[in-house]
Amino acid sequence: MRRLALPDGSRIPVIGQGTWRMGERGAERAAEAKALRAGLDLGLTLIDTAEMYGNGGAEEVTGEAIAGRREEVYLVTKVLPQNASRKGTIQACEQSLKRLGTDHVDLYLLHWRGGHPLAETLDAFLDLQRQGKIRSFGVSNFDPADLTEWLALPGAETTQTNQVLYNVTARGIEFDLLPQQARLGIPIMSYCPLAQGDARTLTALEPIARRHQATAAQVLLAWVIRHPHVFAVPKSRNIDRLKENAAAADIVLSPQDLTEIDAAFPPPKKARPLEMV
Ligand SMILES: NC(=O)c1ccc[n+]([C@@H]2O[C@H](COP(=O)([O-])OP(=O)(O)OC[C@H]3O[C@@H](n4cnc5c(N)ncnc54)[C@H](OP(=O)(O)O)[C@@H]3O)[C@@H](O)[C@H]2O)c1
Repeated sequence: MRRLALPDGSRIPVIGQGTWRMGERGAERAAEAKALRAGLDLGLTLIDTAEMYGNGGAEEVTGEAIAGRREEVYLVTKVLPQNASRKGTIQACEQSLKRLGTDHVDLYLLHWRGGHPLAETLDAFLDLQRQGKIRSFGVSNFDPADLTEWLALPGAETTQTNQVLYNVTARGIEFDLLPQQARLGIPIMSYCPLAQGDARTLTALEPIARRHQATAAQVLLAWVIRHPHVFAVPKSRNIDRLKENAAAADIVLSPQDLTEIDAAFPPPKKARPLEMV
């Protein structure tokens, strides 16, 4: 699996695993943990979770999946904005660590900007880092102005990533956020890189997929990670699809493929509000 270097030097796989909608139903937890472990075996060793997903359930499933294999995993979780006060962030992180069954996460993100002052969240991140409970920190769903404000805070210069919606149907960041982050050397973590499996999007990419003897989902992923500053966290509970997703890292799209994708899913011509799901 191709790797990308974060500002702190961590070399992470360009394709990892998302966990949204996992841990919501008890009966499915064992299968979900099994899928995450299969993903690890395939090299999808970055796992993205959040205290929000399944009300902590996704972190518990992740904890089950990584038990005994913690050192293989680059583990990412997120604090909810309503918990992101100075004290609340510390408490939220400690609860996440319990559910994950580990003493530290590799990357801790603010899930989106809420009512607590950014400086408080950052202070808590720096404190958690000093305590060894998080290795690094970052943000999510920050638009260019939010990111500029965040990065102006003392201590924020070691921000590792901004996790945002990015796929062929949501290209707004190409106009401003992506070039801004590329200039700063802060990679983008793409969420919903598969457009959540949207059938119309997949169908539109079929002709390109056929040329590569690949699937449309693989074309979606290859397209997202074509940029040297972008890595992605697709989610699947299905082991055959996980295999597909891992193999997508080897697909190189041609100029013709990219032109066809631009025709079907045009790039932005002006700034757009940051899209979120
Ligand atoms: N920071 C944020 O605000 C935020 C927001 C949304 C998501 N996220 C993160 O990003 C991750 C990914 O986003 P997402 O889960 O919403 O959407 P996604 O990864 O774009 O798509 C997931 C959907 O695609 C299907 N799928 C997976 N692999 C496939 C393949 N090879 N072929 C066809 N379909 C496939 C999955 O079904 P199966 O499971 O049945 O395969 C699932 O229905 C999340 O899990 C979460 O970790 C973060």
